[in-house]
Parts: sequence; C-alpha cells; structure tokens
Amino acid sequence: MVPTYEVDSFSEDTKAFCTIDKRAGVYKQRVTSRDVKIEDKIYQADEWMNTPSIILSNIPRRLHLQQDHPVAITRQLIESRFPDYKTHNNLFPVVTVGQNFDSLGFPADHIGRSRTDTYYLNKSTVLRTHTSAHQADTFRANESAGYLISADVYRRDAVDRSHYPIFHQMEGARVWDRDALDAGKSFAQTVWEDVAKIPKHSITVEDPNPSFHSERNPLQDGHSAEEVEAMGAHLKRSLEDVVVAIFNAAKSAAADAGETPDTPADEPLKVRWVEAYFPFTSPSWELEVYWQGDWLEVLGCGIVKQSILDNAGVPNKLGWAFGIGLDRIAMLLYWIPDIRLFWSTDPRFLSQFSSTAPIQRFVPFSKYPACFKDVSFWLRSSTSAAGGLSRNATTTSHDFHENDVMEIARDVCGDLVEDVRLVDEFVHPKTGRRSMCYRTNYRSLERTLTNEETNELHGRFCQQLVEKLGVELR
Ligand code: DAH
Repeated sequence: MVPTYEVDSFSEDTKAFCTIDKRAGVYKQRVTSRDVKIEDKIYQADEWMNTPSIILSNIPRRLHLQQDHPVAITRQLIESRFPDYKTHNNLFPVVTVGQNFDSLGFPADHIGRSRTDTYYLNKSTVLRTHTSAHQADTFRANESAGYLISADVYRRDAVDRSHYPIFHQMEGARVWDRDALDAGKSFAQTVWEDVAKIPKHSITVEDPNPSFHSERNPLQDGHSAEEVEAMGAHLKRSLEDVVVAIFNAAKSAAADAGETPDTPADEPLKVRWVEAYFPFTSPSWELEVYWQGDWLEVLGCGIVKQSILDNAGVPNKLGWAFGIGLDRIAMLLYWIPDIRLFWSTDPRFLSQFSSTAPIQRFVPFSKYPACFKDVSFWLRSSTSAAGGLSRNATTTSHDFHENDVMEIARDVCGDLVEDVRLVDEFVHPKTGRRSMCYRTNYRSLERTLTNEETNELHGRFCQQLVEKLGVELR
C-alpha cells in the first residue's frame, strides 16, 4: 500500500518528488520513492533505472562551462576556430532513447543501448551518451548553417586514468541549402567557395582514401559524387584547422617545459584520415594525430545521413557533422596525467589554468602512494541460476559484465580509486565455475590514504560485489 499524505505538510522540495492525486477535492500526494529529481525536472524511474546517485550528484558541475577549467578552455579554443557557428552549451543531459539512439539510426540491437553501457532513468530515458543526441533537434530548430554543441556525456565504462563515467564532447555540424543557392551556382561550387575561406595550414596530411567507396564508405542516395567531394573537403579542412590549432598549442606547452625525446619541438605535426563507420553518417572518417610516438584518434565525422535531415523537416539541406572528446584533448594540451583531476576542486589543480594565459604544462603536485589490493571471486555457473533466484542478486558467467564491477568500485570509492583491472580469470575444470581476480589501485590525487581507509574501502568494495552481483568471494 503506497502511503498518502496531506500536501500542505510538505515543503516545496518534497512536493517536487511527489505525484499529486486529486481525491474528493483534496490534494493528496503519493510519495514515489522511485522518482528521480534532476535539477528542476522529475523522472519516474522503473526497472531500467541504473544510474547511481554519485553520477546524478555530479550533473550540475558542467565543467565545460567552469571558468578557467581546462575542459572549458579546450572548448573555447576549438570554438574560436569556428567564428560563424552558433554555440549551444547548455543543453540538458537527460534525453530520450529516441534522441540518443533512434533519431540517429542506431540499430535496435546496438551494444550502446544496453544497460551495461548506458545510464538509464527508465526504459525510454537516458543520460546522453554523446552530444550527437542533439543533432536532430538542432537541425529541426534550423537556427544557423553551422553549430557547435558542447556538453557533459555519460557512459558506464572502465576505471582507469583515462576513463571517467562523465566526460565532455563537442558536436559540430555545417549544412548547405539546396534551395538557397546563388543564381547560376551549383551546390558543389557553393561549397568549394566556402572551402576557400578556411585558413590554410602547412602540415602534412595523409589521406589515401577515396572521397567515398561503394562498399566500405558509400555515398547516400540522392547525393552526387561532386557534392560529397566538396562537403568532404570542407569537413576535412575545417577539422585539420582545429587540430593544427590544438597541437601547436600543445607543442608550445611541451617546448616551454623543455623538450623530451618524444616531443621534439621542431618535428612537424603529422595527421591522417582513416575510413570509419557511424550509424549517422556516410561516408565517415576519423582523424588521427601522431603524438608521442602513437597515432591518436582525435575525432569522428562524416556526411550527415539524409534521413536525419529529412526527419528534422529540412530535407533540402545537406551537410557534415563531427564529434570530438574534450577531456582527452585537454589532458594532452596540459599534460594532465589522470582524468579524475578534472573533478578536483583543489586550488593546487585549478589555479594552474587560465583562459587568458598561454597554455602551460600542468605541474603535478606530489604523487601520493598507490595501494594495490586484489579481490578474487567465483561467478555462479550459468546452469545453477535456473532455479528462480532473484536476478539482481546473482550474476552468472552469462550475464556478468565488467562495467558492473567498475561501477561498484566508483560507488564505494568515488575518486579514491585510480584503476581497476582484471588480472586473472579461469574456469574450474570440474564445476565449470568461472573465477575472476580484479586488482584495484586505491590512490588519492590530493593526499596519502591511511591503511585503515584503504582497508575499509576494499572491505566495502568486496561486500558490495557479493550483495549486488551475488558472487562468492574466494
Ligand atoms: N557521437 C560519436 C561518439 O560519441 C562521435 C561522432 C562521430 C559524432 C561522427 C559525429 C560524427 O557527429 O559525425 O563516438
């Protein structure tokens, strides 16, 4: 029986959590503990809800808007390369499954839709997993030929120094209107004239790919080869310009700090285009930059699927889009060694960055000691779970997902966990049960943890593995 209460006895805050029933002229409220309030909005959770409160509580941080934060400075640096594009920096992170996946043509069985990868509030509502979730709406609003959307995005993922369940992306797009061409000019000509306006650079770009490829990277119905060649050139030149700006800034930061063999300041920047696949573009590419001895994937992009523009009510437009991760770029610009630092409010971190000063390499405060601890456990064998056991409390080899371990670590330890990794795994030859061993590195970025603290964290981590996943500790 759900309790009902007199409305008047509740504060405005509490009312916001409640469904109001009108009975016999009196408002009563049913407190539904499954409701989730995010800033001024309320969502009804259901059995799909898998978003922990530690994630919800970080939603208001909006690091991409925090003055002098490296993520915000990185955003501004990229924005400065697109002076005519309209910026959208305040879009709310809760979106529908329709916006995040369906509108972009994600197949029904795409792994990204699974509850192991995505934070759901209920069956049809998620925390956006990428800024592309706003493409269709932004095209529909039709406010500018070019736009940039920067925002926090959310994914269930590994725990290590380059992964955090909240990170930041920038989405960019540029469209041209087939029905608004100057008299006598073709679509492709119009686009090529815009290509000529993009600043020139002198770096070496490897681009061995054809502009499209009938099997690997096809043209879409209704797009001519000339049109896609022109838009592809505009896309690639625009993004090369961004990368030149970013990596020149990164190189001067490296040079200021003294050259290292990996980053000789006079070595020219090398970038290359590779073919890619995204459900929402065709043809598609990724841009990679040679940095510190490795090819680094920097962004994804392509020619926008016409169905997205058609469904958004602008079938006369064609164009391109890209998506870039801001945190990784900021880490590389400033030599930030651990993504958790972005969430630090320690002035020793924040005071090192300024949007008006040249980019300088981050000087780490002393590195506090690591503390490694292992936990080994048995999963239930898939067959033994058949007997009507509660699904929540039993994780069989079949439905075990590593991201669940990661999330428990984050939930228990917050930012005191640096890394969680699988170090051993085997199947018992007789029982068929699977054993896993995970090694956790407990380390604070701001101080030395005491033994008691790490023991206590590890104890709770193990206990939660048992309670939430139903594993058996060894
Ligand atoms: N949404 C993609 C991701 O999160 C990035 C991306 C790739 C965005 C290609 C785009 C694009 O707009 O065209 O991985």
